[in-house]
Amino acid sequence: MKRSQINYAVDKAHAIAETFRVCLPDFAYFTADVWRQQDRAEWCEVLDLRLGWDITDFGRGDFSQTGLTLLTLRNGLLGSANYPKPYAEKMLQIQQDQQTPWHFHTHKMEDIVNRGGGDLCMQLAWATPDAQYDGQRIVDVSVDGQRRTFKPGDTLVLKPGQSVCLPPRLYHRFWAEKAFVLGWEISMVNDDLQDNHFLEPGGRFPAIAEDEPVKWLLCSEYDGLRE
Ligand SMILES: [Fe+2]
Repeated sequence: MKRSQINYAVDKAHAIAETFRVCLPDFAYFTADVWRQQDRAEWCEVLDLRLGWDITDFGRGDFSQTGLTLLTLRNGLLGSANYPKPYAEKMLQIQQDQQTPWHFHTHKMEDIVNRGGGDLCMQLAWATPDAQYDGQRIVDVSVDGQRRTFKPGDTLVLKPGQSVCLPPRLYHRFWAEKAFVLGWEISMVNDDLQDNHFLEPGGRFPAIAEDEPVKWLLCSEYDGLRE
């Protein structure tokens, strides 16, 4: 991704949050310059747990087609005495027709919520023991407490207000239809470095081409503040 696309995506994400009347914590408004002026010891929880902006094209190089705008609002760190919180929360912004590609989480159980906008469409399938797509095994999931059954690859449509609980090792792919979707994730502790398995090669974070100055630091770029 180009840096200019990332800068624009965070500007747009702020505007969209405002449109939906979602108020965000202070660190969501820190520019790279403001971050450099902060006391890093005070903000070590945000920096260590990578709370903050996460704009990704999943390494595919076409953000409008395959990409996601995330803001990690809270998280913990498994096995850490400093950060014992066992849960995480993220805001997700999904542009119309923008997909998040097939992946599952080895450990994390997550609820994905459609908080408003268009339809949040999701395909589901189990992973086999060797992490392949299981085209046979029936999927049953809880949609707001209602048990729903799907064939592998069937599409679940979450209307605004609806949510689904995704257990570990359930492959999922999702996209927004009809309009932008404001999504939300409520989950077990989140480890984006270790816990994501993608069906196709790509990756979790973008390669960045620096075509303009950094306005917003991504949560994967905090290490640069420590230098
Ligand atoms: Fe996921």
